[in-house]
Amino acid sequence: MLIRPNEIQKVANMFFNAVHEDEIELINQLYDALKANDIEKADKLLDELIVDVEDHFSTEEAMMKEADFFGYPMHKADHDNMRKELSKVHQEWKERKEPKRVTDFLENKLVPWLKLHVAQWDSVTAMHIGD
Ligand SMILES: [Fe+2]
Ligand SMILES: [Fe+2]
Repeated sequence: MLIRPNEIQKVANMFFNAVHEDEIELINQLYDALKANDIEKADKLLDELIVDVEDHFSTEEAMMKEADFFGYPMHKADHDNMRKELSKVHQEWKERKEPKRVTDFLENKLVPWLKLHVAQWDSVTAMHIGD
């Protein structure tokens, strides 16, 4: 396990919280598979995570647009930065299947980013959108 669900701030929208919880579970499963050197399982879980993150980001973006949230461009820009990093890691994984590259990314990039992003952007967005 890399991250506990309570390490991610709860926000004012239950749907956001549910999406974050599911994503944390997937990140942990992927992390454990990589640590166990289970390449086949990690490959499947990384593919799943890519789809899950895209779904997470695009749903939030659609909800922000719908609610006319003032911070939309900045919140989306932060998603876009992570989309780029993730797609680079995904590409490298497909070429080399190096677990350490992905565990480093999860430990040092994705998880710290997620904590900060939720505190900085999702919390304000959720307050604007409401329950
Ligand atoms: Fe989020
Ligand atoms: Fe977000």
